[in-house]
Amino acid sequence: MISVPTCELLIPAAGSGRRMGSDRNKLLLPLLGKPILQWTLEAAISTSAISWIGVIGQPYDFPAFREIFAKLNSEKIIILIQGGDTRQASVFNGLNALPANSEYVLIHDGARCLATPDLFTRCAEALQTYLGLIAAIQVKDTIKVVNDGIVQSTPDRNYLWAAQTPQGFAVKELKQAHFQAQTLNWAVTDDAALFEKIGLPVQIVMGEETNLKITTPQDLAIAEFILKQRSPHPLN
Ligand code: CTP
Ligand code: MG
Repeated sequence: MISVPTCELLIPAAGSGRRMGSDRNKLLLPLLGKPILQWTLEAAISTSAISWIGVIGQPYDFPAFREIFAKLNSEKIIILIQGGDTRQASVFNGLNALPANSEYVLIHDGARCLATPDLFTRCAEALQTYLGLIAAIQVKDTIKVVNDGIVQSTPDRNYLWAAQTPQGFAVKELKQAHFQAQTLNWAVTDDAALFEKIGLPVQIVMGEETNLKITTPQDLAIAEFILKQRSPHPLN
């Protein structure tokens, strides 16, 4: 068996879940009896390619996060890192909290709780070859560019992919991209966008159709359906 060098994993989990309409961080909402974040962590700890996990959160959520860590019974090192006001700021804090010898990092949104251990493993393996990568799937819809309610154009769907996480990067280059973003006030919604902005290549790793980001109550209902299909008796 080929052994894959291990990498670190950062999990941005410092949001508020505004679109979920909940009164607390959506990652603490129950999904089939377990907090969303616990599902995410259980998948991440199942791959031997990840050696260290940093969960980025707001301090008021730390007690609840610690309770989840205790339930995992994992040998892996899992630490808490204080998040920022935006996802980008949270990842920046996460990068600064990586172990000093960290060379490659995966970043995976806490809200993508259906990503499988296989997806984590494939992304970690691909990091041996590429400086930057993202899990992504081809879009099924026809996408329109719209301004003020008027369609401006219809990009060729063959070139359109929906970005997911995990996303993986060489640490040195990603830190450089984040520092440049701070200096030049770039605001982006994923880390690959920063890599692209500094002119570095980002490879696609085939994502998973079921790897949704839990954003609205509808997503939660769909996630429950998918998990029940994976294991007909998930609570037994
Ligand atoms: N996130 C973060 N720090 C922030 C904002 C978001 O670490 N300041 C994390 C979220 O916890 C989530 C991921 O980034 O795991 C993707 O963000 P999103 O799905 O937008 O979550 P929220 O920001 O919590 O939701 P909303 O935008 O609806 O408020
Ligand atoms: Mg958000």
